[in-house]
Amino acid sequence: MSIKEIWDKYILEFGMPELCAGTFELTFEEFSEAVNNENLNEIDKIIKWLVRGDILILKKTFSMETTRLMKVNTKKMWLRSDSSFHKMLDGCVNFHRIIDKEASLKYASDRVCHASFFFPWNEDDLKVKDKIMNRWRVIKKFNGLNPYDYENNIPSTGTCDRIQTVLYPPREGFSSTHSDPTHNQLTFNSGYLSTRGDTNTYNSGGFYAIGKAGDKIDLEKDIVEGDFSIGVGSIKHGVDRIDPDFTDPVDWNGDLGRWWIGLYSNDSDHVKDRKTTKPDLNIK
Ligand SMILES: [Fe+2]
Repeated sequence: MSIKEIWDKYILEFGMPELCAGTFELTFEEFSEAVNNENLNEIDKIIKWLVRGDILILKKTFSMETTRLMKVNTKKMWLRSDSSFHKMLDGCVNFHRIIDKEASLKYASDRVCHASFFFPWNEDDLKVKDKIMNRWRVIKKFNGLNPYDYENNIPSTGTCDRIQTVLYPPREGFSSTHSDPTHNQLTFNSGYLSTRGDTNTYNSGGFYAIGKAGDKIDLEKDIVEGDFSIGVGSIKHGVDRIDPDFTDPVDWNGDLGRWWIGLYSNDSDHVKDRKTTKPDLNIK
């Protein structure tokens, strides 16, 4: 049985999950060993848990040196260019955008953050592309794809890879409850570049998913800088407002707040009726 067939088997049995059952943990090394060696017993177990609504926390996915470089090089990019927006069409440049309350209205689901977008056809602005791609290929293989799927595509091919780093500044930063499209990749692939409670980060808010009782499950408590999480994209999730009681002026270009990295294979803007994030209209 292939990895894709294991996914198909459990999706047929349980359906696509919308609510979170809980979390479980592996180190990234344990996970990549199982995937690369095609240990189908272990992979079957992981996929079954994910389709039943669990979220997998991959401990120690990136070293602290790598997460530091991701943040430092994101900030260097902010200094080189102004906040802007570019559709994902052939030739699209790497860009960053301060998504404040007003800009947030242009998105399918509410989010306030400073987001930066990096595409494989451009210069490696983050300077850690190899470290990212080595891990993303394992996750793609686990998703039932070819490890190299999409990475050499350009927007007119239809689906292409996009790396996103995000700063959620204190008081302003959040992302409302949503689900992610699952037609190009079944799982959301989220990386954590800061730890709640550390000095010079943030003290409250962060990643949550909606549980079986309709409650918000705080997942941030299980996560530290360098960890990664994957879960089926149809699970309702979001980012609870970061430090709502913060009273100093907000620095959109600073360090303070919650840092995150997302790896996503998107429909480009060349795709008619492209599928994007779906807001959950029942829960804000
Ligand atoms: Fe998401």
